[in-house]
Amino acid sequence: MEDVAECVNIKANDFESLSSFVKENNVDLTFVGPEDPLVNGIVDYFEDRGLKVFGPRANAALLEGSKAFTKEIMKKYDIPTAKYETFTDFEAARAYLEKQEMPIVLKADGLAAGKGVIIAQNLDEAVNSAREMMLEGKFNNAGSTLVIEEFLEGEEFSLLALVKDENVYPLQIAQDHKRAYDNDEGLNTGGMGAYTPVNHLPQSAIDEAMEKVMKPMAKAMVKEGRNYQGILYGGMMLTKNGVKTIEFNCRFGDPETEVILQALQGDFHEICTDVLDNKTPEYSFDDNVYLGVVMASTNYPESSTKGVLIENINAKAPEIFHMGTAKKDGKYYTNGGRVLFVSGKGKDIKEAYDNAYKRVSEIKSEALFYRHDIGFKAMKGE
Ligand code: AMP
Ligand code: GLY
Repeated sequence: MEDVAECVNIKANDFESLSSFVKENNVDLTFVGPEDPLVNGIVDYFEDRGLKVFGPRANAALLEGSKAFTKEIMKKYDIPTAKYETFTDFEAARAYLEKQEMPIVLKADGLAAGKGVIIAQNLDEAVNSAREMMLEGKFNNAGSTLVIEEFLEGEEFSLLALVKDENVYPLQIAQDHKRAYDNDEGLNTGGMGAYTPVNHLPQSAIDEAMEKVMKPMAKAMVKEGRNYQGILYGGMMLTKNGVKTIEFNCRFGDPETEVILQALQGDFHEICTDVLDNKTPEYSFDDNVYLGVVMASTNYPESSTKGVLIENINAKAPEIFHMGTAKKDGKYYTNGGRVLFVSGKGKDIKEAYDNAYKRVSEIKSEALFYRHDIGFKAMKGE
């Protein structure tokens, strides 16, 4: 970014220094990226000081901050989602699990960087995962409250929208790849690759997600006195019984955003300002397919690496996004779980795939792995 922007080293949770910087530099709009500061109230802090900021307040960011809260709202307002129960007592969770069909889904209530979901194939696995989350502090106690929900089958898509109160402006849908390895094997991750648009899913599924999930949720939040503003990320599953909600995030999805924003036509600053000012924003999407691949540290999501050299990276290529790299003396090193997002565009999914993977194959590092099948569902579906 340093080639096109001035990078300032202030931590995302240091609201005081951030707001001082914004005031001193007459920044007219702050766009908040990550969930942590949103859940911790950065928007409330900025608004209290008269600063314009795009993102949900803490009482609305809870849609990502607490899965139990979100499930409750969905139940109350009849928003389609998987059946569930919430537990704070391990023995009660175990007793419940013993009566459920497998596979079953266990979700840590709090923030866990996209990793707090376990799909257990059998009772042993389910009970062990519940124990780890509830009693042994896995995911930093985000799992001391546990949501156990029905396993849904179907195809996933991500519907992100700009929201202000009851106004919901959708972006083009994308498809993430949550599992670590090819063929959707391995643990859940923050996301291993994405593409947009998702042409093999019918428009009726997108319409249904808008009418039954996104708009009702925006309305529900107004009714609850928790008016939403900012990006609302809806994780959807198209099941044989219609569209069901998997989760909400209170921010842009990663890596969906890296492909969606490449397709977006319009002035992003103006779009956000218009949404905040209750004006209909002007934007559209181009005709290309964008596809990108995450290159992650070998043991991600169980661990990450720091300081392993990445060679042959065309760091300035706009198609390459730095998720977790560190730069030293002009060279790049791994610095996290998900390290690079390497994308390509094309007139169709195949061309986008070829362009992205050509770039991936040029990058060399001992520490990195990636999936080879990003976009395969679309290629089969077309
Ligand atoms: P979440 O963090 O809630 O999005 O869950 C991460 C991933 O786990 C999702 O993207 C799905 O692939 C999977 N998942 C979550 N909930 C369910 C469910 N009820 N049924 C099947 N898969 C699920
Ligand atoms: N890619 C899913 C997320 O950002 O949570």
